[in-house]
Amino acid sequence: MYRLCVIEGDGIGKEVIPEAVKVLRAILPDMEVIPAFAGWEYFQQYGESVPNETLNIVRECGAALFGAVSSPSQKVTGYRSAIITLRLSLDLYSNIRPVRSLPVISPRPDVDMVIVRENTEGLYSGRERLEGDTAIAERVITRHASERIAQRAIDLIKSGNRKRLTIVHKANILPISDGLFRDCVREIVSKNIERLVVDELLVDTAAMKIISEPDKLDVLVTTNLFGDILSDEAAYWGGGMGLAPSLNWGDGIGIAEPVHGSAPDIAGKGIANPIAAILSAAMLIRYLWKLPDEASCIEMAVNSALFNGLLVENNRLSPNIKTENITHAILDRLTQH
Ligand code: NAI
Ligand code: MG
Repeated sequence: MYRLCVIEGDGIGKEVIPEAVKVLRAILPDMEVIPAFAGWEYFQQYGESVPNETLNIVRECGAALFGAVSSPSQKVTGYRSAIITLRLSLDLYSNIRPVRSLPVISPRPDVDMVIVRENTEGLYSGRERLEGDTAIAERVITRHASERIAQRAIDLIKSGNRKRLTIVHKANILPISDGLFRDCVREIVSKNIERLVVDELLVDTAAMKIISEPDKLDVLVTTNLFGDILSDEAAYWGGGMGLAPSLNWGDGIGIAEPVHGSAPDIAGKGIANPIAAILSAAMLIRYLWKLPDEASCIEMAVNSALFNGLLVENNRLSPNIKTENITHAILDRLTQH
């Protein structure tokens, strides 16, 4: 019995997540869906961004699909981004962000990389304060978190058909913190892998290489903020933010979520692209429910819909295309298999 916690969140989260649930239901008709709440709107109404009940439901299900939340960019007492709270409270220590060329919509055909982002510390440690006119944010790197993110990257390499691991850091300027991260990853790698090419890039060079030679990159492992920025950058090759999936993954528990945010500029118009959410749902069933064949079916249906079911102009979905029509095109292909 598959039990899924569904947290739509704010903005287009409410529009794309129901579409992803439709696709999952087409594959797993008996799946039980348990709705839960989190986000900025919830905070404004009830004074907390993630209620305990939501945490308990995710723990019980072990698997959740999350849309997006809005976060104000000035300090609001008592508020912390709901997704950051979920990642920390549930110890979802890795964030797996694949970027693959998709038919027609991707600007080039040969990209297939995975960014493995540490998801619990770094500059998102939450230790930010004001001392007079000086604002300080502490960037925390621990041996424990660095070792387990390295192990997660290696497990992914072993389970997929991957060959190269690139450690992305900034140890030239941050020799103590990023030096520790790099050394921990190197140690874990040296214990684990034969026939694997391991190299390292400074994060600024990695940003350049994602643009200039994305086809040369395979699996990248990095710290929290670097992974956040590089994965949005790399998402361009997969067709943009509307198509980029991710999985927040701890031990035996995970939350799949599109990489994008709540997109207030298009929210409520019914034009958000649900493909990022649908591909996130595919990651959820692949990694958490161990259903690789079903996950591949969803991915193939997305490819097929992009190839000849959806109107793509100049590498973009037609601006008039409606969210639910994209889902229909994918469901059509799914039922043909
Ligand atoms: P965003 O990802 O929401 O939007 C960036 C751009 O991409 C916008 O032009 C938007 O219209 C477009 N876009 C995003 N998803 C799309 C989709 N599915 N289909 C079509 N177009 C799409 O990032 P932005 O604007 O920087 O942030 C908006 C809010 O989202 C902020 O409050 C931010 O804090 C929050 N956010 C939340 C995240 C999360 O919940 N994990 C992640 C990133 C941002
Ligand atoms: Mg981001």
